[in-house]
Amino acid sequence: MDNNKPIGIFDSGIGGTSIWREIHQLLPAEKTIYLADSKNAPYGQKTKQEIIALCMKNTDLLLQMDCKLIVVACNTATTNAIKELRDKYAIPFIGIEPAIKPAALNSKTQKIGILATQGTLISELFNKTAEKFQTTKIIEQVGHGLVQLIEGGEINSSEMTELLKSYLQPMIDADIDHLVLGCSHYPYLIPQIKKILPEHIQIIDSGQAVAKQTQKVLENQVGFSTEKENQPIFYTNTNPSVLKGILGKDFQVEELDF
Ligand code: DGL
Repeated sequence: MDNNKPIGIFDSGIGGTSIWREIHQLLPAEKTIYLADSKNAPYGQKTKQEIIALCMKNTDLLLQMDCKLIVVACNTATTNAIKELRDKYAIPFIGIEPAIKPAALNSKTQKIGILATQGTLISELFNKTAEKFQTTKIIEQVGHGLVQLIEGGEINSSEMTELLKSYLQPMIDADIDHLVLGCSHYPYLIPQIKKILPEHIQIIDSGQAVAKQTQKVLENQVGFSTEKENQPIFYTNTNPSVLKGILGKDFQVEELDF
């Protein structure tokens, strides 16, 4: 089954490019269209209904662009809106959720930490998954302010370091041995986080798992591109400089009002 239509990917901003990277690396022949809804970031402090409405707006645009599959590259959007998206649209959706399972199953201390947005941590979907791991103590921390700093291009600022220290120290004190990054913006903080965490604490994010799931859905339901390689397109509804900075010069970033 061949299908040369693009894969649509969206996030509340630039964070989902961490997922896009994994998809592009695993499936270089696939054309990808990425929407950075930075104008509406952060999603993590919005109500479920507001998040659903934003996800539908992004989906409508990606459908106008003739996408064959949509990757919701945002934990907050997935945990609050994936069911409503699947109910409304016929196109397949792939979501991203905090990787509690591999962390809990591999934890020796039976204590894991999760850093995510408020919207993800209070969602029904997240709490249902967490309930399955009763024997593991899950230390949850809302990453207040982190997405705003990343969107503002302040990944390496001293304010970021101080915030991360204040969020991670209580987890270190509680003897976690795995830290789950439950927000697609946070993989960009890994170098910073590694400076704070002791070496034995494993950092887990879901990017590779999402790329593998995308490959599976293309194989079983949608079809692969027959092109040799494809140039991705990135759209942002704010000043493109931060997105350009994170992607480097090789990629095309366009401003679009959506
Ligand atoms: N990248 C989004 C996530 O994975 C960030 C959420 C936000 O905009 O607050 O949750």
